[in-house]
Amino acid sequence: MTRAATIVGWGMAVPAQVRTNTDLERMIDTSDAWIVSRTGIHERRIAAEHESTFTLARSAAEQALQVAGVQPIDVDLVVVATLTPEYGFPATASLVQDAIGAARAGAFDLNAACAGFVYGMAVVRSLIESGAHRTVLLIGSDTMSRVVDWTDRSTCVLFGDGAGAVVMQAADDGGGILSTAVGSDGAGAGLLIQQAGGSRQPASAAALAAGDHFLRMNGREVYKFAVKATADAARQVMRTAGLAPDEVDLFIPHQANLRIIRSAARGAGIPMARVFVNADRYGNTSAGSIPIALCEALHEGRVQPGDRVVLVGFGAGLAWAAAALTWTAAPVDRRAERPQAAAAGAR
Ligand code: UT7
Repeated sequence: MTRAATIVGWGMAVPAQVRTNTDLERMIDTSDAWIVSRTGIHERRIAAEHESTFTLARSAAEQALQVAGVQPIDVDLVVVATLTPEYGFPATASLVQDAIGAARAGAFDLNAACAGFVYGMAVVRSLIESGAHRTVLLIGSDTMSRVVDWTDRSTCVLFGDGAGAVVMQAADDGGGILSTAVGSDGAGAGLLIQQAGGSRQPASAAALAAGDHFLRMNGREVYKFAVKATADAARQVMRTAGLAPDEVDLFIPHQANLRIIRSAARGAGIPMARVFVNADRYGNTSAGSIPIALCEALHEGRVQPGDRVVLVGFGAGLAWAAAALTWTAAPVDRRAERPQAAAAGAR
C-alpha cells in the first residue's frame, strides 16, 4: 500500500477577548446590521498585549500533539503558515519548535496568506508521501488585529485573531489526503496588500504616517475572486479524488464572509447543510481560519472516521489551495477508552 498523509492530532487557540459588532459601532462609523448582512460576522477575537502569532501557534500546537499522543521529540518538521509572523525573521516556526521542545525538527514559515494552511497541507502531504518526513506539525496562525487599520471600516470589521494546528503523519493503511491543488494569480497582488515593512518599502516614519504598514484591500474584487476560486478549487480536488459533490460529508471553506461561503458552496454543488461555518464568531482569522473550523467541526462531532472532507483556502497573492481527504482519526473521547492507541500515537 502506498504511504498516505493523515491528520492524527488537532488543536486551536483563540484569544479570550471578544470584540462584537456593537463594540465596533463605538469605534467607527458602522452598524451591526451592515456587518451581519454583508459578512455574517457577529464577533471576533482580539489578541491581548501578551498574545501574538507565536503564542497562539504554540498553544494550538501543544494541543494537537496531545490529541495525537505524539511526543515533541518525534516531530520531524514544524511549519507555520502566517502572514503576520512574530518577527520579520526569524521564522515563527523556529520559535514554536524551540518552545514545544521539538529538538529534532526542522522549521519554516509559509506565506500564502489566508490560503496558507491548505497550501501547507499540500506541501506536507508531499513531504510525507515521499518518505522525507514521518511526523509534521502544521500550524496556521495569524494576529490580524496587528495589521488592520482600526479606522478603516471597510476592512477592520472583517478580521480576527486565532490559530489552529494539526499533526500530520504517514500511514500505510489508506485514507488521509486524497488530493490537493494550489494556485496563484499574482496579477491581483495589489488587491490585498501590506505595502510597508518589506524590502520595497522598509519601515520608516513616512510609511507609518501614510498608514502603509496596514492591510489594504479592494473588497469587491477580492470577493469576486474568492467565490470563483473557492468553487473551482473545490471542484478540482473533488474531481482528482474521484468524489462527486454529494459524496462530500463536510466542506470547510475559508471563513472570510458568509456570502462568499454560500456562493462558493453553490458553485461547488455542496448544500449548506454540509458546509461548516464559524465566521459568525471569529471573523476572518486568515491562516488560522480553516484549522480552527476543522477543530470545531471535530468537537461538534461533524467529522467522523470515513467521512470525506474538502477544505479550500483563498487570500492575498492572490492565492488559493484545496484539499480533499478521508478522515481517519477516532474522536478524542473514544481514544480515552483505548489509551494504548493514544500512547502509541496511532489513529
Ligand atoms: O481572506 C480574504 C479576505 N478578504 C475578503 O474575503 C473580502 C472580500 N470582500 C468582501 O467580503 C466584501 O467586498 C466586503 C464585505 C468587504 C464589502 O461588502 P460589499 O458588499 O462589497 O460592500 P462595498 O465595498 O461595495 O461597500 C458598500 C458600501 C460603501 O458605501 P457607498 O460607497 O455605497 O456609500 C461602503 O463605504 O458600504 C460601505 N461600507 C460600510 N458601511 C458600514 C463599507 N464598510 C462598511 C462598514 N460599515 N463596515
